[in-house]
Amino acid sequence: MTTRPLLLVGAGGLAREVLAAVRAANSVRPQWTVLGFVDDNPARYGTRIDDVPVLGPSDLVADHPDAAVVICTASTRDQASRRRISARLAIPADRYATVIHPSTSIAPGTDIGAGSVLLAFVAVTAPQAIGAHVVVMPHTTITHDDEIADHVTFAARVALAGGVSVGEAAYLGSGALVREGLSIGAGALIGMGAVVLDHVPPFEVWAGTPARRLRTLNPTNHVTARTI
Ligand SMILES: CC(C)(COP(=O)(O)OP(=O)(O)OC[C@H]1O[C@@H](n2cnc3c(N)ncnc32)[C@H](O)[C@@H]1OP(=O)(O)O)[C@@H](O)C(=O)NCCC(=O)NCCS
Repeated sequence: MTTRPLLLVGAGGLAREVLAAVRAANSVRPQWTVLGFVDDNPARYGTRIDDVPVLGPSDLVADHPDAAVVICTASTRDQASRRRISARLAIPADRYATVIHPSTSIAPGTDIGAGSVLLAFVAVTAPQAIGAHVVVMPHTTITHDDEIADHVTFAARVALAGGVSVGEAAYLGSGALVREGLSIGAGALIGMGAVVLDHVPPFEVWAGTPARRLRTLNPTNHVTARTI
């Protein structure tokens, strides 16, 4: 069976998780041949991670025009990293691999954007649209009529009740629960274990049970040019 070459952008913890999901998906149906990681940290060049080489900087994507690409970065300190990297790579959407662990349960008819990653045991319980370059960590539950914008990150075990909208590049920490019908603004950051009972405005950090505002983020941090 023909497989497509694949480059993983980033070589940190999430990249290792994505590699594991790729291997799990390949074990069900061979889809990709992993060429390696690319990462802008020179200390990683030439090393091997989980038996896969770190080939060099992310600019190497240009040297592999036939390879699919998935951006594997996520951080509460750099919520928009995948937006920034995809803008820099400037490759067409069809170059991006959408990686879905075979243990997920995705309602038929769900539309998942290019470059998104759904790790083990994620459930999407009714068909809906999920944006591009969204990262959904294990055991997250996304129910009916939610709206997930591009570049959103869900840490493990987040649960969205129905009709929740999550704005671009928002980050929901591990185990956060969001009541039905609420909106999480673009660039918002929700703490681990939060129970969200109100709309969260853009670029605010909320945490606790019930969740309250901790502080406001500087939106410009979401567009600052940095290397990965
Ligand atoms: C919410 C969060 C972003 C706040 O980080 P921060 O801005 O560095 O805040 P601090 O750690 O300085 O804490 C500020 C206050 O909020 C409290 N706090 C922090 N995180 C909290 C949380 N998740 N729930 C409840 N209270 C929290 C702290 O106890 C502290 O309270 P105090 O002022 O009374 O001492 C962070 O704690 C968090 O939950 N990040 C998500 C982590 C995660 O899910 N990672 C997934 C990795 S895959």
